[in-house]
Amino acid sequence: MTKDTYILGIETSCDETAVAIVKNGHTIIVNVVASQIESHKRFGGVVPEIASRHHVEQMTVVLEEAFRKSELSWSDITAIAVTEGPGLVGALLVGVNTAKALAFAKQKPLVPVHHIAGHIYANQLVESLKFPLLALIVSGGHTELVIMKAHGQYEVIGETRDDAAGEAYDKVARMLGLAYPGGPKVDQLAHEGSETIDFPRAWLEPGSYDFSFSGLKSAVINTVHNAKQRGEDLKPADIAASFQASVVDVLTQKTRQAALQYNVSQVIVAGGVAANKGLRTSLKAAFADTSIPLLIPPIELCTDNAAMIAAAGTIAYEQGRRADLDLNANPSLILGI
Ligand code: KG4
Ligand code: ZN
Repeated sequence: MTKDTYILGIETSCDETAVAIVKNGHTIIVNVVASQIESHKRFGGVVPEIASRHHVEQMTVVLEEAFRKSELSWSDITAIAVTEGPGLVGALLVGVNTAKALAFAKQKPLVPVHHIAGHIYANQLVESLKFPLLALIVSGGHTELVIMKAHGQYEVIGETRDDAAGEAYDKVARMLGLAYPGGPKVDQLAHEGSETIDFPRAWLEPGSYDFSFSGLKSAVINTVHNAKQRGEDLKPADIAASFQASVVDVLTQKTRQAALQYNVSQVIVAGGVAANKGLRTSLKAAFADTSIPLLIPPIELCTDNAAMIAAAGTIAYEQGRRADLDLNANPSLILGI
């Protein structure tokens, strides 16, 4: 019988200080997330220096809470997995340095994890991954379609050429006067309005799985400004509904097309925007008439957390991936390297 693995995950790439322990890559023992949303709200977005300072303040508190809730001790922990990148460098450094200090003090293996691999492996906390799979990653910093033929292998077949989907949501939200983070608020507002404005959809060249959201963002801004100048009254809920329809339409159609072309055994969705109700509904409908199973994690596993880092870290650990104590944060780490 093989021994159980208990991986401690640490995530500090943006504005959540998170620590989790995951058993055998599938079972969450504990998942603690300290959000900094309240501190960044008044600035309308994440302020990197403030994020780093909060991570420093919160890290030991979150770590202690995780161990207390788990009822495990250090002797149970197999290895420490930490987000190496991408993200805000000062924020990442807090997690990386914590993980290195703990690995040294407790004599545990140190496993570096790519943040997006973490988002992908959030799905493994729900159901086993089936290869080949297609992952749609939609977060504040990323919009990507990735083919995986095996654990730990990532082939990016499409990505955004400008703004990430979540970034577009946050910018449109700010324009509508909604507080940070705007994505969930635009989502909510969209359900109170209807698609009265025909915003553009950037399909790009035929067959391309890349995305572009900056044209849509500009179209929303121009529409609002023009309406204001003409003294017209546009309902914010209708703007939100029309914007969301455009984003969801492109994400859904490209994902479906890629899944059929690559003949995958599973489609998984990951990242903060995977929490979007409109996107979840639209993807479910798009795959209903196919034989391809669609997996979307529960909302709390879509946004940043450390259980996903521990889940991805388990596979990396089993594949022999290790970092030395000279591990550094890498704000522009590429997936698959
Ligand atoms: O994955 P995540 O927590 O952090 C990054 O790695 O970026 O994603 C955060 C992004 C933010 O842009 C946020 O506005 C967006 O996900 N988001 C949403 C929703 N919930 C979070 N966007 C649209 N609809 C939502 N319900
Ligand atoms: Zn993320």
